[in-house]
Amino acid sequence: MPVVGVIGGQWGDEGKGKIVDLLAERADVVARFSGGNNAGHTVINQFGKFALHLIPSGIFSPRAVCLIGNGVVIDPTALLQEIADLKAHGVDMGRLFISNRAHLIMPYHILLDRLEEASRGSGAIGTTGRGIGPAFTDKTARLGIRMGDLLDKEAFRERLRFVLDHKNKVLTRVFGAEPLPFDQVYSQFVEYGQTLAGFVRETEMVIAEALDKKRWVLLEGAQGAMLDPDFGTYPYVTSSSPLMGQACLGAGVPPTKIDRVLGVYKAYTTRVGGGPMPTELTNEIGDCIRENGHEYGATTGRPRRCGWFDGVAASYSARLNGLTGIALTRLDILDTFESISVCIAYRANGATYHRPPSSLALLARCEPVYEEVPGWRQPTGQARDFKDLPKAAQEYVRTLERVVGCPVDIISVGAERERTIFVSELP
Ligand code: GDP
Ligand code: IMO
Ligand code: MG
Repeated sequence: MPVVGVIGGQWGDEGKGKIVDLLAERADVVARFSGGNNAGHTVINQFGKFALHLIPSGIFSPRAVCLIGNGVVIDPTALLQEIADLKAHGVDMGRLFISNRAHLIMPYHILLDRLEEASRGSGAIGTTGRGIGPAFTDKTARLGIRMGDLLDKEAFRERLRFVLDHKNKVLTRVFGAEPLPFDQVYSQFVEYGQTLAGFVRETEMVIAEALDKKRWVLLEGAQGAMLDPDFGTYPYVTSSSPLMGQACLGAGVPPTKIDRVLGVYKAYTTRVGGGPMPTELTNEIGDCIRENGHEYGATTGRPRRCGWFDGVAASYSARLNGLTGIALTRLDILDTFESISVCIAYRANGATYHRPPSSLALLARCEPVYEEVPGWRQPTGQARDFKDLPKAAQEYVRTLERVVGCPVDIISVGAERERTIFVSELP
């Protein structure tokens, strides 16, 4: 029984939620290991339509134990809202567990996220404003407060006194903002602790036991590889690693235990927020992709920037994640195009690049080099087998495999579970 990772191969919103929901039918454990409620994973199934932010997309599977791992930062308000929404739709929450080591997003993190963004002016990152960056900063600065801390009221009081005093100095002296009142934050978070106590576990041990018993473990990534703080378009990135390696640190999965890594890619490229995106189309083609695909964020509702498939970024992320296969989503959104372009290299200053350069200034100057392929101009939404796809769509998939350097295992031709083609047998 395998351990399978599902990660975003581009700039996020590739359709990880749909793929995890689909695979979770057979999983015993599904774990999130990074990010926070900056993620918005859309799932459409018999329970309804959901945008999950913190709870793993495997929560609809009656057999899967779902874990929010230590590598996730948790805003308890957002989590309780999500639990209430799912319960209201009849979803069983008895299989959800939260790591006692997961760091919390505190009210000052949300304030600081917005104040820091405002201070960046035209260089704003375009964060989701959920306090993600400041929460991960405090984790490494050793100023964090963890889920388990809420369960010991006295120890939490001491910890919060020290940390809030420090944060209030930053809020008032650096940003000229109002300080946060200790009593209010303390009592609110003690209450969160009481409400959530039954969910809190050593989630790494739940995974360890599952591995000992050779159970099926699914690891659900958040964001996408190009938002990685090391390998992405720094500083226009998120604050925890969306790469497969992060599952080892953010859920406690030993590196030697991951059997398969599925990279989710859209059949084109989108990005939300600031930062370079070499294949962005600020013309009617980009608008057409956005409108065909309803490309508006699941978390913030912002219009997504759209463009052709960026094979340079995609092959780079495939290597970094050690992909064993691709889940290609939203092929149906390209159904109307006469001709489709795939970026196979970048050019800047007379030089050609086959990997994204690390220099932001250079990346911002990169122009895509395109390979043109014919479109199919037929609906693909009803295809359930690779052979059902129009020849030109089959060719397009083969082109992407060549460009990314990895076989396509799954093709998604619609948001619903059944709109899926299994090209090769998954374990
Ligand atoms: P995630 O963050 O990677 O889980 O992706 P999002 O949920 O933010 O965005 C993906 C969007 O595409 C959602 O609205 C999904 O319902 C939708 N979706 C997923 N796969 C497909 C597909 O193959 N075709 C179409 N048309 N929509 C899809
Ligand atoms: P899922 O899991 C797309 C982007 C934000 C911003 C940058 C930093 O749904 O694919 P942050 O709030 O993390 O500090 O913002 O990262 N971003 C995402 N873009 N999908 C996501 O998640 C994202 N999570 C963060 O738009 O550019
Ligand atoms: Mg999303």
